[in-house]
Amino acid sequence: MRLHVIDHPLVAHKLTVLRNQETASPTFRLLVDELVTLLAYEATREVRTEPHMITTPVTTTVGTRIADPRPLVVPILRAGLGMLDGMTRLLPTAEVGFLGMQRDEQTFEAVTYANRLPDDLTGRQCFLLDPMLATGGTLIAAINFLFDRGARDVTAVCLLAAPEGLDILDKAIGDRVDVKVVVAAVDERLDENGYIVPGLGDAGDRLYGVVD
Ligand code: URA
Repeated sequence: MRLHVIDHPLVAHKLTVLRNQETASPTFRLLVDELVTLLAYEATREVRTEPHMITTPVTTTVGTRIADPRPLVVPILRAGLGMLDGMTRLLPTAEVGFLGMQRDEQTFEAVTYANRLPDDLTGRQCFLLDPMLATGGTLIAAINFLFDRGARDVTAVCLLAAPEGLDILDKAIGDRVDVKVVVAAVDERLDENGYIVPGLGDAGDRLYGVVD
């Protein structure tokens, strides 16, 4: 597994506003969108391309275009949905699939409750969107889900990660797949409820409000 922590003053600034409990949902959503676009620049660094012949007003030349099969962007519902526009802004030709995963608050295990993905992901570059890499359970389950369908090249885009979750993810994934994790910051630790510290709270609730 390869970890990329985006060290950039704009990322650090926007993340600080995001962490602030005074930041209300509309601003929070906007900042997540902007942050993901900044992370997407790094996350797509190895997107597959092919040569493409074009004619400029002056001459013909060989340029570059994103190769087929198109990359697949997969937000993990619900909080990953808040990252979708920021990602597809940089990758507008990507296909979008969905994975619904919920954390069991007792066991912290990830439970899949919905999926809308192609059955065959052989040769597809996949980009998983999940704002909080906390215990790692959800991401491991999502990567295995893609892996079972033939994907081998998976990049997870997260806002925050906990060292514990990164460790568990690394042990669980090992060298089985080409996995890259792109994050805005690695925080201190997890608390006893599985929340990232200092973190930003429940990302889904802060994006969309509390749903009982
Ligand atoms: N999920 C969240 O939304 N926040 C955390 O801190 C951990 C998991």
